[in-house]
Amino acid sequence: MPRLPDESVIEEVRSLRESIARAAERYYAFDDPEISDAEYDRMMRRLEELEAEYPELATPDSPTRRVGAPPLEKFETAPHSVPMLSLENAMSREEVAAFDQRARKALGLSGPLSYTAEPKLDGVAVELVYENGSLVLASTRGDGYVGEVITDNVRTIRRVPLSLKGEGVPERLEVRGEVYLPKAHFARINQEREDQGLPLFANPRNAAAGSLRQLDSKITATRPLDMFCYGVGRVSGVIFETQFSLLKTLAGWGLPVNLAGTRGGVSLEEVFAYYEELSEKRHKAPYEMDGLVVKVDSISYQQDLGTTARSARWAIAWKFPPVQESTRVEDIVVSVGRTGALTPVAVLAPVSVGGATVSRASLHNEDEVKRKDVRVGDRVLVQRAGDVIPEVVKVLDPDREGRNPPFVMPRACPVCGSEAVRLQGEAVSRCINALCPAQVKERIKHFASKAAFDMDGVGDKLVHQLVERGLAKSFEDLFTLTMDDLVPLTRMAEKSAGNILSSIEQSKDVTLGRFLYALGIRHVGEHVARTLASHFKDIRRIMSASKEELQEIPEVGPVVAQSVASFFANPQNVEAVEELLRRGVRIKEEEAPEKGRPLSGRTFVLTGALSSMTRSQAKERIEAAGGRVSGSVSKKTNYVVAGESPGSKLDKARDLGVAVITEEDLKDMLGE
Ligand code: IVH
Repeated sequence: MPRLPDESVIEEVRSLRESIARAAERYYAFDDPEISDAEYDRMMRRLEELEAEYPELATPDSPTRRVGAPPLEKFETAPHSVPMLSLENAMSREEVAAFDQRARKALGLSGPLSYTAEPKLDGVAVELVYENGSLVLASTRGDGYVGEVITDNVRTIRRVPLSLKGEGVPERLEVRGEVYLPKAHFARINQEREDQGLPLFANPRNAAAGSLRQLDSKITATRPLDMFCYGVGRVSGVIFETQFSLLKTLAGWGLPVNLAGTRGGVSLEEVFAYYEELSEKRHKAPYEMDGLVVKVDSISYQQDLGTTARSARWAIAWKFPPVQESTRVEDIVVSVGRTGALTPVAVLAPVSVGGATVSRASLHNEDEVKRKDVRVGDRVLVQRAGDVIPEVVKVLDPDREGRNPPFVMPRACPVCGSEAVRLQGEAVSRCINALCPAQVKERIKHFASKAAFDMDGVGDKLVHQLVERGLAKSFEDLFTLTMDDLVPLTRMAEKSAGNILSSIEQSKDVTLGRFLYALGIRHVGEHVARTLASHFKDIRRIMSASKEELQEIPEVGPVVAQSVASFFANPQNVEAVEELLRRGVRIKEEEAPEKGRPLSGRTFVLTGALSSMTRSQAKERIEAAGGRVSGSVSKKTNYVVAGESPGSKLDKARDLGVAVITEEDLKDMLGE
């Protein structure tokens, strides 16, 4: 007999639903989560528990019945012919064992089940539809039943084939997978956003979602998204026997599949072992993973097990422990960036989060600090997503007695004391003194950085000394430095001073795109700078272009146009450009865009016989694509390609945790 709920239970359910709905909206519709995934999962589980205990509280519109959020109105929508469902989560080995038990019981099996285990990528679920082998539609998961149409955006993802190849391509194929942003690009995009005073993405998943759900696919095209396919919707005329063979077939048609990370046809024990292995290795992977998806391998068993309204009964997501820790806020300081933006930063009692020590975390801006109400002395939850800037998720003891007063953003620049102004509609306050030493240092560092003038040795420490000693008041001054200026600096020998001067000299030949980027104009990141360069081809034409002329370029919107025009309307900035040219900077032809060398920097080892090419042909092709082939497996090996009857190199690869791929994967990487 189910128990009757009392007032407090009804209240708890109500409040859980409200919090979940709010969190889901921020997560799915605005790509801007407010709480950690672990917290969200906990709330959802608690609600599921209560609804199971008090079935009369389980309403059809409860968040436990839904997958995501309804589509935003700005996109066209398309229904999914098979609902795109979610997965139950497991937090421990015991919960996975219980899942195995349930599945075997439901199937009436006494023997063991065979599984396929795939990394759970942290990105955005997408469905691709191919008709007669051509990509005709791509949509997000939406609420599971109706998604947002994002076909043009998905077409910009290089690894998504526009047409399929190979034997037996079905008339209609609905294929599903995860679109993600590789970690390395995430860090770069956030850096650019910070430079431009835009809000940062909390993690690679939000960055991927934000990039994909753009009305303007040109913006998507500037974000190097990637995709792995993991399943299908409706498929005409093809019958798959197992999950693993399904994945291999998809890969054979040219779709991107994470075969190297997948273990197919394995026992429960092997799933356990693989989880341990992946927990160790996941931080080294180029993409963010948040768990292992364990799927019953046999497709006919999958069908027998079926689904609930929200998730499949034949699969479970075994989550990795979140990379979050708690620590105390020792201080809140304010740093000043290149554009004068004042950023509050929490100074933390050092704590190890997912293998890295964290002692500072960005609080982004005044509103963020207010929203999270972070104060000195608070115990906070901090998280690190991959290699990114750690951040404060929330205060853990907001009701504590004797808390310090709320943080107040200073009204003056903490470095030069000038007024700090927050313009209407902006989240950040800025120091308005262009000669503020903090801004000067940041501008010089930016000017010398890799993507700009690329001056070796001109970094944090050197720039600090140059500005403090009055040797550089602006970036132009870098070009008139002498040995006499540099040698007296701390920790500077004649040899290194000479190296720095020669790298400054070499940097004088610069492309127009880099030159523009180096000037540090707000909203002009590397990409915009290159776009302006290839359109105008001449710095003087850019300097005299009106806002309207700038906006004629398809990729340039009103914000960028305004920013560029006002930058050059300021005589000081024009003078800075003239001064650079007088001091010997030569703007040269734009380099041809780097030819796609898909394998550059990657080392391969070949073992076993390949079927469609000899090993020496494979070597040639890898090298032609920029990769390297080595005779023996070491920690430096990126991939071992295993053919028929592989040798001991395969064991060595597994020992060292090197990715093992098939010949098909290799061909995929070669873009064949
Ligand atoms: S299978 C009915 N496999 O995880 C089964 N999902 O809640 C549907 N995900 O948003 C999902 N990697 O996009 C599956 N290898 C994988 C996955 C995966 C990531 C995502 C999926 C969904 C969420 C599941």
